[in-house]
Amino acid sequence: MELINLSDITVSYDGKNNILEKLNLKIKEGELVSLLGPSGCGKTTTLRVVAGFIEPTSGKFIFDNEDYTKIPVHKRNFGLVFQSYALFPHLNVFDNVAFGLKMRKIDKKLIEEEVFKILDIVDMKNFAKRYPRELSGGQRQRVAIGRALIVQPKLLLLDEPLSNLDAKLRLQMRVEIRKLQQKLGITTLFVTHDQEECFSISDKVAVMNKGLIEQFDTPENIYSNPSTEFVARFVGFENFIDLFLIGENIYEGKGENKFKVDTLIKKEGNIKGTIRPEDIQIIRDDKKENAIDGVVEIRTYLGKSYQYNISTSLGTLIINDFNDEVYKKGDKVKLYLPPNKIVLV
Ligand SMILES: Nc1ncnc2c1ncn2[C@@H]1O[C@H](COP(=O)(O)OP(=O)(O)O)[C@@H](O)[C@H]1O
Ligand SMILES: [Mg+2]
Repeated sequence: MELINLSDITVSYDGKNNILEKLNLKIKEGELVSLLGPSGCGKTTTLRVVAGFIEPTSGKFIFDNEDYTKIPVHKRNFGLVFQSYALFPHLNVFDNVAFGLKMRKIDKKLIEEEVFKILDIVDMKNFAKRYPRELSGGQRQRVAIGRALIVQPKLLLLDEPLSNLDAKLRLQMRVEIRKLQQKLGITTLFVTHDQEECFSISDKVAVMNKGLIEQFDTPENIYSNPSTEFVARFVGFENFIDLFLIGENIYEGKGENKFKVDTLIKKEGNIKGTIRPEDIQIIRDDKKENAIDGVVEIRTYLGKSYQYNISTSLGTLIINDFNDEVYKKGDKVKLYLPPNKIVLV
């Protein structure tokens, strides 16, 4: 049974354009789900609907079998951490974390116990007396997470919580967030535009485009089986070939090249095959199946590999080649597109 059920959520800020259009999302208890998508696609807006800052124009938000669509923010008891959700600068770490409990007029002794329990969880016990200006970015964000957790929320909402941190700290903090989330078993909705970050910590990922969820699946399935061109591009597929079905799992592209595609879902009509640059092989033998001739246009050095732009009858293909042999502009090559690496979108 799902804890969160967003159904047909539509949001418009100006009464004309819909920022979210009939968005649907179900999240099970204990899951960490990410909203992933480019800037402006509606991730924060979705989170605001869940948090209660925006009432949707239409649609329903069911939480734990209750209609929450019109429940005010302060009655939802969710933990919030936003990118710019600054700590209170005039309060020390202890008081920042205690804030949510002090609002509730709870016994002082009990507050102290609870705050230290949380500071221990976010590894900030020794910093209780420090002020936000005396902390690093990562420490501040840990305090912000502590402040969100102190009210024992049934749901944790994180909006790009790591985007103000430097690269190394971001890697470290995302592992910490995942560990913490699993330890507490807290259902979490995490917003990010960073694919790697999102894949590394999520049980499931909702890829968003223009106010809609294009695919909701495990990170593994999204990575290897994107269902639309948008999702494919977002997760690193760069080659798109127009194809049409001509036989059992056989597709033909421009130039009468035939490709076998290992796929469970047969698609007909105007479809595209897509393949990652690292999955196309430059081959020496004269294999015919799933192979195509090409000429090297551009070579770029990427450190671990060379990237080639290769012109073929299907258009220019981009290939990352990890082999020792290096080709130069004008070289004739043969390319092999393995049947199990071509995805239909
Ligand atoms: N308060 C607002 N008033 C009007 N338009 C807004 C407001 N907040 C966001 N938008 C617009 O809604 C769209 C989605 O924004 P947002 O949900 O913040 O996207 P994301 O978090 O994915 O970057 C953007 O086009 C943005 O300009
Ligand atoms: Mg945002």
